Amino acid sequence: MGKTRTPDERLALLLQRVESTLTQVTREGIFPHAAPSATGIWEGTREGMWTSGFWAGLLWQRAAVTGKAEDAATATTWTLRLSPHLDHQTHDIGFVFSSSAVLGWEICRDPACRDLALRAADRLAGMANPAVGVIPVGSQAEIAAGLDDVTIDCMGNLPLLWWAWKTTGEGRFLEVAVSHADRTAAWHVKEDGRIIQSTHFDPRTGRVTKQETHQGSGTDGCWARGQAWGVYGFAAAYRATGEERFLEVADRTAAYYFRRAGDDPVPFYCFDDAAKPNIPRDSSAAAITCAGLMILAEHAQDPIRRQRSRDRAEALLSAMVTGYLTPLDENDRRPRGMLLHGCYNKNAGWHTDHELVWGDYFLLEVLRAWSRLR
Ligand code: GLY
Repeated sequence: MGKTRTPDERLALLLQRVESTLTQVTREGIFPHAAPSATGIWEGTREGMWTSGFWAGLLWQRAAVTGKAEDAATATTWTLRLSPHLDHQTHDIGFVFSSSAVLGWEICRDPACRDLALRAADRLAGMANPAVGVIPVGSQAEIAAGLDDVTIDCMGNLPLLWWAWKTTGEGRFLEVAVSHADRTAAWHVKEDGRIIQSTHFDPRTGRVTKQETHQGSGTDGCWARGQAWGVYGFAAAYRATGEERFLEVADRTAAYYFRRAGDDPVPFYCFDDAAKPNIPRDSSAAAITCAGLMILAEHAQDPIRRQRSRDRAEALLSAMVTGYLTPLDENDRRPRGMLLHGCYNKNAGWHTDHELVWGDYFLLEVLRAWSRLR
C-alpha cells in the first residue's frame, strides 16, 4: 500500500499523468486507450474508439483546473478529432461525446463543442427503438436475425441526452433517456441490486429472449464494471431528473457492489469468478462507481442517502489513491499518477492489467468533486 496523499497532491499527480500521456500521444498521433500497469506506455489508435472521448475529457478537466487558454485549445483540438464518430451507428456515441464535447461547452463555452455534442445527442436519441423504449447496442447481425440487445453499459451513454435536454429544453431527449433508464432498471437490476449486463429482445414486441453477461465469468457472472455503470448511470439519471426512483436504484446497486467487493473495495473484474483471488481486479470499475457515489453525495436530497454515498465514495477514493496509483518511489520508473490494475475484458484477453483511459477520467472527475465537497 502507498502512503496517504493530500487532495491537492492527488490532483497534481493526475495532472502530471495527463501531461505525460499528452507527450506520448501527440508524438504518436494516437488516442490513448490502455497502458500496461508494468510500463505505462499507452496503446491506442489514430481514429479512436469508444474510449477516446475520455482522453479529450481528461484534457478538458485539466483545463478546468488550470484555467489556461492553451490547455483549453489542446482539449478542443482532440475533441474535434472525434467528429467522424458521429457516423458510427452504436450507443457508444454517448460515451464519446458526453465525456468530450459536452465538457468543452460546460467548461469553456466552446460553441463548436456545443454543436458537436448536440449533433451526437440527436444521433443517439434517433437510435432508440420507439416500440420498446430502449437504445439498443445496434449489432447489425442481431437486427438481421430479428433480435436486438441492450446492455447496462448504455446507462453511461445517457448523460449526453440529459445534457441535451437541459441545454435545448427539447423533451424528446428526456423521453428517450427516461424510458431507457426505466426499462434498464426493470430488465437489468435485480431486487438485491445485482446487475446483469445484457438483455436480448424482440425489437417489435420487447419480449425478452435471453439475458447474459459478456464481460463477467460464465454467462451469468456479475461483471464489476457493469455494476459500476449502473451505479453511475442511475445516479446521473437522478441528478438530471430529481426522480426518487433513480436514486433508489443507484443506492441499491451501490449497496450490492459493497456487499460483494470485500475488504478491498477496488473489485475483482467479476464478483462471481470462482478463481478469486487469482483473477484481475478492475480499478476502472472502482473509479466509475466512486464517480456515481460522488453525484449522490453532492445531489441526494435524502440526508441519509447523501451521507451514506459520501462515506462509500470516501472509502473507494482512499483505496484507489493509497493502493492503485503509481507508487512514489524514486526507483519506480513508471509515470506518476497512473491508475493501475484495470481490466478491460478478461474473457477476450484484452488489457487485463492496465491503466485504462476511462479509469483515469473518472478518477479525475472524483477528485474534482471531492474538492467541491470538502
Ligand atoms: N463497453 C463499455 C465497457 O467495456 O465498460
